[in-house]
Amino acid sequence: MTNNRPLHLFANVTAVTTLGLIFAGALVTSTGSGLSVPDWPNTYGRFMFAFPWSDMVGGIIFEHSHRMIASVVGLLTAVLAVWIWRSDARAWVRWLGWAALAAVIVQGVLGGLTVLFLLPTPISVLHGALAQTFFLIAITLAYVTSREFFQTGRIPVSGGAHHRLRRWAWAALGLVYLQLLIGAVMRHTGSGLAFTDFPLTGGALWPSFGPAAMEQVNWAHWQLGLAEATRGQMMIHFLHRLTALAASIAIVGLALNLWRNPEIDRRLKMMGAVSVVLLLVQISLGAATVLTLRQYLITSGHVWNGAALLGWSYLLVLRLLRHYALEPAPARLQVLAPEGVPAA
Ligand code: HEM
Ligand code: HEM
Repeated sequence: MTNNRPLHLFANVTAVTTLGLIFAGALVTSTGSGLSVPDWPNTYGRFMFAFPWSDMVGGIIFEHSHRMIASVVGLLTAVLAVWIWRSDARAWVRWLGWAALAAVIVQGVLGGLTVLFLLPTPISVLHGALAQTFFLIAITLAYVTSREFFQTGRIPVSGGAHHRLRRWAWAALGLVYLQLLIGAVMRHTGSGLAFTDFPLTGGALWPSFGPAAMEQVNWAHWQLGLAEATRGQMMIHFLHRLTALAASIAIVGLALNLWRNPEIDRRLKMMGAVSVVLLLVQISLGAATVLTLRQYLITSGHVWNGAALLGWSYLLVLRLLRHYALEPAPARLQVLAPEGVPAA
């Protein structure tokens, strides 16, 4: 069986367009434009695509263009699902195509419900989280239709190293995903500016959440003209910073393990190195989000680069699982001392 190149190309376009859509969605939240268009599925009572360009002003620009780009992604996903269904012999891939279509429909409905129910936190968080999950499904479809997936030759990696690499790769992916979920909760509970300093948090490495410390943090808020932060908001914010540290350790650990392993080829080593670059950009954008008091382009860049880091870590796991085969470790030569004679 060989890969269908046009189909693979189309799956890639769908995944890349989704990444663009995540930036457009992030702009809606970062600019507070979520309710600039109060109705759904229509836009100010008109069929979405009949809405005049001349009326695209203020927050409507962000909200309406997000809906239009989302429709394009919905259409691409529908075409992809049908194309896979008609041309791919693997039943599980055909199911995955339909799963992608179901996910994009649920995502669109969640987007609509966010508007109709005036941005309730759980729905907004779910909309943010499903966006990233849908992106992973789109990457899976692109990978399983690629030439690499159909190649039969595997690069052998000896047992111990292979297990270690897999553990690091899963840890990195899992922690980045968890971090995105905490990020979404942080964003939609208004906890993004619960602390306004960086790299310290509330003036300390490990902040106190007692009344005196909270008063001090809120005094800084008052001087900056920000709303008072609650203890819950501060805890969510600090948790996001702690998880960032855990994710950083996993990503750097994975990159070092890849780099040091002579059995791993250059391409995967480079993937590990790019993960570290994406991580550094992500931390810088996170710090800048706080220090600029959520400048909207920087904040959206943080969400967008977070999605890119997630997608990249996922692709690394897929490649490691598919393209590198486990080779049993060679049996150790054991020199046994004759009975009764102490071993040297
Ligand atoms: C493929 C479909 C879609 C994807 C991947 C997607 C993605 C996103 C993302 C990533 C965000 C930012 C979340 C955050 O920053 O936490 C967002 C926000 C938003 N999206 Fe979508 N979206 C889709 C469809 C829609 C549709 C059809 C609507 C219809 C109204 C919609 C309405 C919204 C609204 C109102 C927000 C702002 C929510 C808030 O500020 O709380 N989305 N979207
Ligand atoms: C591995 C590192 C990190 C990742 C993957 C990550 C990812 C994310 C994501 C994806 C969001 C938004 C989620 C959504 O709404 O859908 C977010 C929000 C946020 N992140 Fe991070 N982040 C990281 C590190 C940091 C660091 C070090 C800081 C610095 C304090 C930071 C500060 C923020 C802030 C302030 C928000 C909320 C922005 C708002 O309220 O609009 N992040 N993060």
